[in-house]
Parts: sequence; C-alpha cells; structure tokens
Amino acid sequence: MPGNTFGTLFRITTWGESHGMGVGVVIDGCPSKVPLDESIIQAMMNRRKPGTSIASTARKEPDQVVIMSGVFEGMTTGTPIMIMVYNKDADSKAYAPYANLFRPGHGDITYLAKYGIRDWRGGGRASARETVARVAAAAVAKAFLDKKDIEVLSYTIELGGVSAEARDLNLIAKNMFCCPDMEAAKEMEKRVVEVKKMGDSIGGIVEVLARGVPPGWGDPVFDKIDADLAKALMSIGAVKGVEIGSGFKAAGKLGSENNDAITPQGFSSNHAGGVLAGISNGDDIVVRVAVKPIPSIRIDQNTIDTSKRSTTISTKGRHDVSAIPRINVVCEAMVSLVLADHKMRQAAIRDQ
Ligand SMILES: Cc1cc2nc3c(=O)[nH]c(=O)nc-3n(C[C@H](O)[C@H](O)[C@H](O)COP(=O)(O)O)c2cc1C
Repeated sequence: MPGNTFGTLFRITTWGESHGMGVGVVIDGCPSKVPLDESIIQAMMNRRKPGTSIASTARKEPDQVVIMSGVFEGMTTGTPIMIMVYNKDADSKAYAPYANLFRPGHGDITYLAKYGIRDWRGGGRASARETVARVAAAAVAKAFLDKKDIEVLSYTIELGGVSAEARDLNLIAKNMFCCPDMEAAKEMEKRVVEVKKMGDSIGGIVEVLARGVPPGWGDPVFDKIDADLAKALMSIGAVKGVEIGSGFKAAGKLGSENNDAITPQGFSSNHAGGVLAGISNGDDIVVRVAVKPIPSIRIDQNTIDTSKRSTTISTKGRHDVSAIPRINVVCEAMVSLVLADHKMRQAAIRDQ
C-alpha cells in the first residue's frame, strides 16, 4: 500500500511535490459542525512558512490555503475536506546541476532505488514542502480538539548543541526559535550564524506537550497512543528519534525513581509522559523529538552520480540551516492528528 494516508477515523491523505503545481490534503472523517474557515488554517500555516527565522530557507512561499470542499457557512459538513496550497516560488534551475547526483543524507538515492524515477526538483515528495499538507490538516484537527479544551504546544529545547534550561512556555512565541528559554535562544542565534557562515547545518530537539487529554485514549495492543505518536513523528523528514516521558533516561533509573506515585489528587510526578500501557492517563502527554542536521550543505562531500561514478557535491540552492524552528509546528500537527483520531476511536468504543 502506498503510504500517503494517515489515521483511522480522522484520516488524511496528502499529495504534492516541492516544485509541482502545489501540495494539499484530503481529510475524510472529520465530524460535522466544527467551526472552520481559511483564516483558522492560515494562522497555523504561517508558523511553518519559510523566512520566519535566520535558520530558514530564503524560498518565499505565501502558503495561501484554499478550501476546495467540505466546509459550508463556516462549519465542516462531515464530507471530505480538501485543502490546496499552490507552489509560487519554486526555482527548479537551482536543482538542475544535481539532477544526476545523490545528496548525502537526503532521499535522492532511496527514492530512485524504490521508484526507478525521481522528481529531483527541490527534493520532490521527500521535501519538507509536503509538511504544508500535514499542517493544514492539523489546523482542522485542532479546531475539532479545541472544542474539547485540548491544547498541543511544541517548542525547541536544543539547537546545535545549545540546550534550554528554563521552560517558560510564555516565551515560545517571543523568539524566532520557539525556545522557552530566552538566554538559550540568544546562544542558538549565535550558533546558527556561525554554522551558516561555515556552509554547514545543525539539528536539535523539540518537545511537544499535549494538555487536557482525558484518560482512556489509545488502542492496545498495536495502536497504543505512544506507538501512534512515535509513528506520526517519525514520519516527518529529518526526525531520527522519539521519546515519551522519561524516554531513554528511564533505562538508567530505579523503578522507585521512575514510577509515578498515585494519590487521590492524581499522579505525583509525570515520568510516564501521560501514557501507561499505551493508554492516556489524564496527565500531560510529553514527547521529545530528535531532529538531524539538514542534509543539503554547502560543504563538499563525496557522492556518486546515477551511473555510480565517484564525484563530490556541495548544494548551493535555498536550504534551511536547521529544520528547527519550522519543524515545531509540524510536530505539533502530527500530535494533533493522532489525538483527533484517538478521540474519535475512543468515542466509537465507549459512550461516555
Ligand atoms: C521543516 C523541515 C525543513 C527541512 N528543510 C530542508 C532543507 O532546506 N534542505 C534539505 O536538504 N532538507 C530539509 N529537510 C530535511 C529533509 O526533508 C529530510 O532530511 C529528507 O527528506 C530525508 O529524510 P530523513 O532525514 O528522514 O532520512 C527539512 C525537514 C523539515 C521537517
């Protein structure tokens, strides 16, 4: 089965390439009577747009959304919702010199191995441009979740080796890296400037927080909510690791340290990250996402061409220095899509 569809009851199918006509999504299964219009989707899209930070590509896309179906008089109708975004600023000429070369770290080599043909313009479907469709779909999922007071936030806790110590969530909209620590944000800026000058790239870590998720969501055994979150987040390009709650640190702890004691008022800590046995426990869901450095860099690297001849490549097009901060809203989007789906799945299994 082609892998362009995600979700069981709240189901999305994305389509489009970086330098094609545009990108978009069909959402099937969104309940009726959710308040929705283009401005709600646009507000979320604007957070993903290039040009929001010094770490971003110089490509200038307005990312103007058009709702083609499924909405009438400001409400979803329960029929398929199609959202479309035209590509306006693709410059395929910049990619022509690399049409027969494989960028180390990118999907050029594996796309050709899989399909025997590859749209090399801007990375084709392997481009982060595809995430436009996910963010548009998630704006709808969020409109549905908002009705239930569920909030999903995403912020940068590490970039290029600089870590955020503080977690002041009021700050994430106040600096270009969506960082909850202003001092760290300043250091991150220095690091980005330095790396950009070198023609190199950096990665980091994003944390996603979901508040207000009631206990009981997640379908053991294969569709546990943590399993679905991991799949959703790992499906984003450049994501190389996902951990829930204590995550990898849990491996080095004692049971007495890692268990969250239970009191009549609730859990006394949240090492579980809001999930037990694959089912939400009513506490905040906390997920961290490891993001690798951008593959397309200006530094010469060894590679081969499509005839397997050795050569070198340095990529001169318009590229992000880091997927962070733009990936934040994409992570938030994928978590929102999982939650919308599991909300509907829980309603199908138990009338509460
Ligand atoms: C928000 C975002 C922006 C990205 N920007 C670029 C970019 O400008 N140039 C690039 O080569 N890769 C970029 N990537 C990473 C590639 O999409 C990704 O590395 C590639 O598809 C290969 O997949 P993999 O890293 O998961 O193996 C970006 C990814 C995200 C999520």
